[in-house]
Amino acid sequence: MQAVRWPPATTRRYVSYSVASRRALPFSLNPFRASQERPDPGNILRLVIFGKPGAGKGTLTARLVKKYDILSLSTGDLLRQHIAERTEIGRQAEQIVAQGKLLPDDVMLEIVASKLDHLRNKHWILDGFPRTVPQGELLDAHLKKQATPLSLVVNLDVPDEVILSRISDRWVHLPSGRVYNLSYNPPKVEGFDDETGEPLTKRPDDNPEVFARRLTQFYASTSPLIAYYSRAAQTPTRLPRPPHRHQHPHQLTFPPAHTLLLKTVSGTTSDEIWPQLDALVRSAFPALRETATLLETRRRHSLSDAVCAAGLAASSGGDS
Ligand code: AP5
Ligand code: MG
Repeated sequence: MQAVRWPPATTRRYVSYSVASRRALPFSLNPFRASQERPDPGNILRLVIFGKPGAGKGTLTARLVKKYDILSLSTGDLLRQHIAERTEIGRQAEQIVAQGKLLPDDVMLEIVASKLDHLRNKHWILDGFPRTVPQGELLDAHLKKQATPLSLVVNLDVPDEVILSRISDRWVHLPSGRVYNLSYNPPKVEGFDDETGEPLTKRPDDNPEVFARRLTQFYASTSPLIAYYSRAAQTPTRLPRPPHRHQHPHQLTFPPAHTLLLKTVSGTTSDEIWPQLDALVRSAFPALRETATLLETRRRHSLSDAVCAAGLAASSGGDS
């Protein structure tokens, strides 16, 4: 087992300069992944993935991003990068994160809003934001100005005792935010990241005392967001729509109604949770495309299946 390294001696260097870590930024705009065509604006995935610390937000977001043409932003990963790079925000965040407390709402909105502004007409996932009702309100107001409201909130419902046992087994690759678990998804080589070969570390807020504080903080400040989003899901909203070029100034237009979808996905293992989440996203957002790599792997498998089937047919034909 790799020794616990925090902060890793080389963090600053490889966060700043390594090509691999740049590719693996927790938030990245990849021109080859983001679709060139504009999807139907009414059917764009703008997802908040919501859940207790350790519920699997990061793990399930990574699966969705791997499978579909979606971008993601994890505020926890972003803050850990700021801390590693010793930026102004990082200096402010270091103590707060290590104690399992929350950063001020306005600081968080500023960090997230500047990233979201690049994401119009793209499918995206927010992991770890919003985390308080005021953050939810700030986010809604920001998105409303752009007529790009949230389309889906998924509440990951995992029992506390399951989460507590997961956390002691969690190891992370700090520059990318990739998450491993010694029993559920272990790295190929113990102690090292699968993609870069760099060492894995323990998060400083993953010890039992701080984790208990994060869970308490979740129930006090974050869980009221469920009631907030339940109300939003029952209230269709009208989005502002700019007037059409040839429209008479007195002509009435009825902007499209928008309704947020709120779903709870319950379970204790990936076998229970991932298929529910995948089916939900696929059925509610048919405009989502699978990534090119996944389609290529499928094509190769179906080709090799076809070759095998042809080989079997030929050999069975020869036998008869
Ligand atoms: P953040 O990094 O967001 O931490 P968190 O919300 O506490 O959530 P975690 O990252 O611990 O858990 P996760 O749900 O992503 O689970 P994971 O996939 O890793 O935030 C850290 C800190 O930053 C906060 O405490 C706060 O100080 C600050 N902060 C961040 N955002 C903020 C905001 N908006 N406002 C103010 N402050 C903010 O999975 C956990 C483990 O379980 C892993 O080992 C994984 O392999 C395993 N696992 C996952 N899914 C499964 C499964 N289905 N079956 C079996 N094992 C699984
Ligand atoms: Mg996470």
